[in-house]
Amino acid sequence: MDWNESSRRSFLKQFGAAGALALAAANAEGMGLSGAEGAVVAASPSQAKQAATRAGRMKWWHEAKFGMFIHWGLYSLIGQHEWSKEVEGVPIPQYELLAKHFHPKPNAARDWARLAKKAGQKYMVMTTKHHEGFCHWDSKLTDYNAVKQGPGRDLVREYVDAARAEGLRVGFYYSLMDWHHPDGATCKTDEAARKRFVEYTHGLIRELLTNYGKIDVLWYDVSWPLSAEGWESEKMNEMVFELQPEIIVNNRNGLDGDFSTPEQQITASEVGRAWESCMTLNDSWGFNRGDDAWKSPKTIVDNLATCARGGGNYLLNIGPEPDGSIPPDTTAVLESVGKWMDINGKTIYGTDRLQAGWNTNANYTRSGNTLYIHQHYWPGHTPAAEWLSFYQPDAVIAIGGIKPKVLSAHLVKTGQKVDFTQDALCVRLTGLPLKAPDQPATVIAVECDGEPTVNHDETRPLWPRYKVGVS
Ligand code: GLC
Repeated sequence: MDWNESSRRSFLKQFGAAGALALAAANAEGMGLSGAEGAVVAASPSQAKQAATRAGRMKWWHEAKFGMFIHWGLYSLIGQHEWSKEVEGVPIPQYELLAKHFHPKPNAARDWARLAKKAGQKYMVMTTKHHEGFCHWDSKLTDYNAVKQGPGRDLVREYVDAARAEGLRVGFYYSLMDWHHPDGATCKTDEAARKRFVEYTHGLIRELLTNYGKIDVLWYDVSWPLSAEGWESEKMNEMVFELQPEIIVNNRNGLDGDFSTPEQQITASEVGRAWESCMTLNDSWGFNRGDDAWKSPKTIVDNLATCARGGGNYLLNIGPEPDGSIPPDTTAVLESVGKWMDINGKTIYGTDRLQAGWNTNANYTRSGNTLYIHQHYWPGHTPAAEWLSFYQPDAVIAIGGIKPKVLSAHLVKTGQKVDFTQDALCVRLTGLPLKAPDQPATVIAVECDGEPTVNHDETRPLWPRYKVGVS
């Protein structure tokens, strides 16, 4: 939108105080730049209005850090990942038969929610409709839904109730791309088809956000084959916020929304922009019988710390079996992560973005002036201690480039005080046990007298150099 004085005035008239706030933010930051959250400059009045409430709407989400993604649909009956329909070229009349044979056990979602709670996850996001087009709820707009087909009941209702029973926030995944709807592809080239399909899509989203009480997250996916304009995404989000004023939405309907969604990778957004990395626990989103590439609890805990350290969230997927059961490997990994979170959760939840360089042996998070060192590869005893006074029994953890001054250190698991020395090059934590006190990572809290940063490359120019050769 081209802002001039009259559009500015009509905008203020329409959106009152919230609008004024957003405009002030826009002016302060300069168009197209982002500053503190909520001050991300919006491209339109309705986006500016959403930006004005963003920080408040997203507070719980920033604290939560860890969520459960659930991919569950007809594809689970095939058991070869959720893209079977397209990747294997299954014809629609064949694929539709699955809907008749989908008979999940009652309230399978309760087990998901219990597991999420145990794992330390604070919110859930379930596929209400994936690319296959099947609706898990009691839709009035299509019979291709759980009530009219095999399940004979509303699976979204079961999911929502299950999440709430565990005190978890509720998110809906919704795929805009639809392989089943007759207008799902022709909408790109046929305006009448586009109009019908957009009306259908907005109608389904309206049902989801009207019939299940307060919904915390709307997670759009794949906007093929239309642009934001084609989907009428501005209008879509306006409806969403009208129905659910406190909801947060992602960026996959062609608009920026409230947060970015790096997939199968952890990439922090610029400061001021919220982000959530979504990732599979093996290699597949939907249930995939043969996929045994499970990530270890160590990897999950490390990924979670990497997200937290970059100021982002981690949305970790499970792919339940056709009856809704959770694959045993999934349960094992998440329970193990949960045990670690029971002790170390405070080093993840509500933590702040941290500036830190790489370290093969450890990850880091930060809460105010406290640096948390997540040591996933414990040093044990090094033979080098025989010659180097730098190392000493039983174990030393040294971190180069920690700033500023360290005041104290302790093991998070036991509260035990840790001795340390600090100079311009590093902090040395000494007198540590031979074996790692905690698995899959031992966390050491290091209290500093200011905001900590860790950058070993910053110390490189400081090293006293002696001579070229060593005699
Ligand atoms: C991709 C896949 C989809 C999955 C999604 C999760 O978009 O197409 O199957 O649901 O990633 O982010």
